[in-house]
Amino acid sequence: MAAFCCKVVLLIAGFGSCVQSATHNYRPLRYTIPRPLIQAFSPQGLEVSIPHTPGIQLFAFHGSINKFLDGTEIGDMRKHVLERDGERWAYKNSTVKLRLGDKIYYRLYVVKDNLGYRLQHGMFEVKDFSLPDKESSAPEEAVPAPTPQPPTLCSRTGSICEKVVLNLTQRVCDLQQEIDSLRETNDILKDMVKKHPTTSTTLALDGVKVQDDELGVIVQAIIEDKLGLPFKVDNIQRKRNGLVQFEVESLEKKLEIIRVAKTKLRHSNFRLVY
Ligand SMILES: *[C@@H]1O[C@H](CO)[C@@H](O)[C@H](O)[C@H]1NC(C)=O
Ligand SMILES: *[C@@H]1O[C@H](CO)[C@@H](O)[C@H](O)[C@H]1NC(C)=O
Repeated sequence: MAAFCCKVVLLIAGFGSCVQSATHNYRPLRYTIPRPLIQAFSPQGLEVSIPHTPGIQLFAFHGSINKFLDGTEIGDMRKHVLERDGERWAYKNSTVKLRLGDKIYYRLYVVKDNLGYRLQHGMFEVKDFSLPDKESSAPEEAVPAPTPQPPTLCSRTGSICEKVVLNLTQRVCDLQQEIDSLRETNDILKDMVKKHPTTSTTLALDGVKVQDDELGVIVQAIIEDKLGLPFKVDNIQRKRNGLVQFEVESLEKKLEIIRVAKTKLRHSNFRLVY
């Protein structure tokens, strides 16, 4: 129950966390995201923060552990932070368990005075652990320094450009929230469906007009040759209503078959029933 509540709260919080409205007093000042202070805690926890500079509206962190993060991938750890913590903007993860030698690949994103800034290709290696509430022992820095990317689009251009960037910033942010929310919905639906073994792995084909002793070969051929999916089917049987029912190994495979069949069986005599 606790876990469930937690998820709901996260969803709601997620919806709120975008740069809300475009204010129209633009004061573009050159800003470069400073190198973050990164602290790993033992036995668990991570904090990534940058100092506050007037005008910062949002700070976002995307990170993956021991997995390179390219410019567009979504990190395993990610969050948009809309409220600062004292004089810093901080991403905090109290559950992640890091080991010495782990590498955190990360990307930062800041919205300041309605303009978006990115710091890409950050990398931090856990060399020691910080004590909670003791800033002093912070083990600064990434091994190769991340290269901050200047907001090239904006600094020397007029307000149309700024508006477009702000527009894009908001759209990206909105889309990110939407993706996060869809992923979560998807996970919830999958969990629900998996509780019903018949629903989650059974499919049926309509239009298979062969002798029953050939069903196995035909169904397997439809999956492999017509759909191009190397999935094994099992428990093939003809039902009273003429449908040929069969099972696949997992919900993911069932979903893939349905997805592919939508186009590849469209002009055939077979119809997938699910
Ligand atoms: C904390 O880290 C774990 C492990 O990477 C991740 O699954 C979780 O989503 C993170 N939490 C937040 C708030 O980013
Ligand atoms: C911002 O985007 C909306 C559509 O999402 C568009 O109608 C509007 O004209 C855009 N504004 C600017 C300044 O580009």
